[in-house]
Amino acid sequence: MPIIPAGVRGARITGWGSALGHKVVTNNDLAATMETNDEWIRERTGIHQRSIGGTTAELSIASGRAALEMSGVDPASIDVLVLATTTPDRTVPATSANVQNALGLRCGAFDVNAACSGFVYALVTAHGLLAMGAQRALVIGTDTLSRIVDWTDRNTAILFADGSGAAVLEATSGPGQLVSWDLDADGSLEDLLFAELGENVQMNGKEVFRRAVRIMVDSATKTMQHAGVTADQIALIVPHQANIRIITAACERLGVPMDRAAMTIEYTGNTSSASIPLALFHAADAGRLKQDDLVLLVGFGAGMTAASALLKWGAL
Ligand code: COA
Repeated sequence: MPIIPAGVRGARITGWGSALGHKVVTNNDLAATMETNDEWIRERTGIHQRSIGGTTAELSIASGRAALEMSGVDPASIDVLVLATTTPDRTVPATSANVQNALGLRCGAFDVNAACSGFVYALVTAHGLLAMGAQRALVIGTDTLSRIVDWTDRNTAILFADGSGAAVLEATSGPGQLVSWDLDADGSLEDLLFAELGENVQMNGKEVFRRAVRIMVDSATKTMQHAGVTADQIALIVPHQANIRIITAACERLGVPMDRAAMTIEYTGNTSSASIPLALFHAADAGRLKQDDLVLLVGFGAGMTAASALLKWGAL
């Protein structure tokens, strides 16, 4: 399991931004077109409403622009753009090409597809590039799953939504924020959640649920072990916002109380690659994070991927 070698140049998040689809869809809106109801969706998933609409590039540009503005960094000085998405706008080129151009970046740009674990995959990848000499990176997680959901399928339509979260990362002279990380995948489970090219998402919800708790706990445990920290030292856990019952079960097994969990699922639904950054930056905007707090990001998704990262908030 990889451990960050001593002396590696670190990085810190110096700006962030978020964007949601422009149209709010409530559970009652869904109940008007399919056999479901508000009470069932709230109880079984924790979702009250979600936002849909916009392309992956549009949402990425909005969150990316906000992150650049907050950091005060000149877009032309960004050295690399990493866009995590499982719903690119086109097969070729990567959606990051469109985003790079619109934001005035003059650097390498590529997409990463690790489904709902995507943002953590992209964040870890960007840290690697910064350790190799890049000075500044823009990392974005965006998905527009509403475009590949069958809106007559109550199994999936109630869960998925659109959004984007972005972070500007800048190299530091010290160890930086990333304390430890873990990236996992088990491709033998690919049939549990998939979409063929040009087709809608299909999901075995029960099985995904069963596996999700285990793989989140495994990944988070590895990341805490790498860092030599225990659950009681975690100031904030930022779990993938898929289902409140998955989050509750994972937190319980990890020994992190729910009042230390970042939560946006109520109003975002499952925004896949955007889920973790939206929840992280919502918590940061709400003043829930202070210097040196240990923040544990943990996600899972189709593939089946899992990813976690431990950040020391604000560290240099
Ligand atoms: N509205 C109302 N009733 C529904 C419903 C809906 N949207 N979906 C299913 N039901 C009914 C079922 O028909 C079943 O009825 P029955 O008991 O009369 O047979 C009952 O509710 C329970 O269905 P079940 O499929 O067992 O529900 P569940 O508790 O497993 O919840 C999911 C379904 C999809 C919400 C849940 O399995 C889940 O969240 N799985 C993980 C999915 C996920 O996270 N995917 C993204 C991964 S990144």
